[in-house]
Amino acid sequence: MRIVFIGPPGAGKGTQCRRLAQLLQIPHLSTGEMLRAAKRQPTALGRQIASFIDDGRLAPDYLVMRLLKKRLLQADVSSGYLLDGFPRTIPQAMQLDEFLAARGERLDVVLSLRCPSEVLLERLVRRSQVEDRLDDTPETIQQRLRVFKHQTAPLLDYYERQGNLRNVDGMQTPEQVFAEIRRSLRDVASSVDRESHR
Ligand code: AP5
Ligand code: MG
Repeated sequence: MRIVFIGPPGAGKGTQCRRLAQLLQIPHLSTGEMLRAAKRQPTALGRQIASFIDDGRLAPDYLVMRLLKKRLLQADVSSGYLLDGFPRTIPQAMQLDEFLAARGERLDVVLSLRCPSEVLLERLVRRSQVEDRLDDTPETIQQRLRVFKHQTAPLLDYYERQGNLRNVDGMQTPEQVFAEIRRSLRDVASSVDRESHR
């Protein structure tokens, strides 16, 4: 299965993708992790990436597309993958569609994890006490939330029109969220099955 997770910062994309990757035995591809790894390189590119992500701004589309396409050409993704935090802009979504179409593939489902901003802020401030992410300061979290609203949320309409969007209530416990995701995937699998028998 090829599954996209969309959600504001702190919605639980990483938490749920880790579980689902284990359950489905497919790779978890996080563009945030890819960019953080690239940022650690002592190169001009590393410094360029840091200047975006540490300020809570999106890295340029061409740069993210380059990293992601390279990853999607590796052998271990042939039976599917989970995309965590990608796409994040309409141009990224369109380029992903083109990339998939050229290979005769499509996304199976787009899961939208929903959660109010106050809860997201609380979660990320708490995470900043145990993890060392430079973008987890209150100001940068607010900036990331604004970026989500203006640049990423329009994707929800984009995928709704394609008919593969499923909403998931991210306000429940991680176990309840995971159970809801599994239910959504069962629905998707059975509708794909019905289509193929028509
Ligand atoms: P990215 O790494 O994708 O970060 P993000 O979207 O800001 O989201 P987070 O990783 O902070 O949160 P999450 O939804 O994964 O939640 P988590 O499971 O950790 O991107 C970082 C940056 O990279 C971007 O700002 C941008 O600059 C750049 N970037 C990345 N992709 C890009 C792209 N495609 N294009 C351009 N730029 C890109 O959970 C958060 C916390 O809450 C954890 O402590 C967790 O334990 C807790 N938690 C999780 N679920 C629950 C729950 N149900 N109840 C209570 N607590 C919970
Ligand atoms: Mg994450």
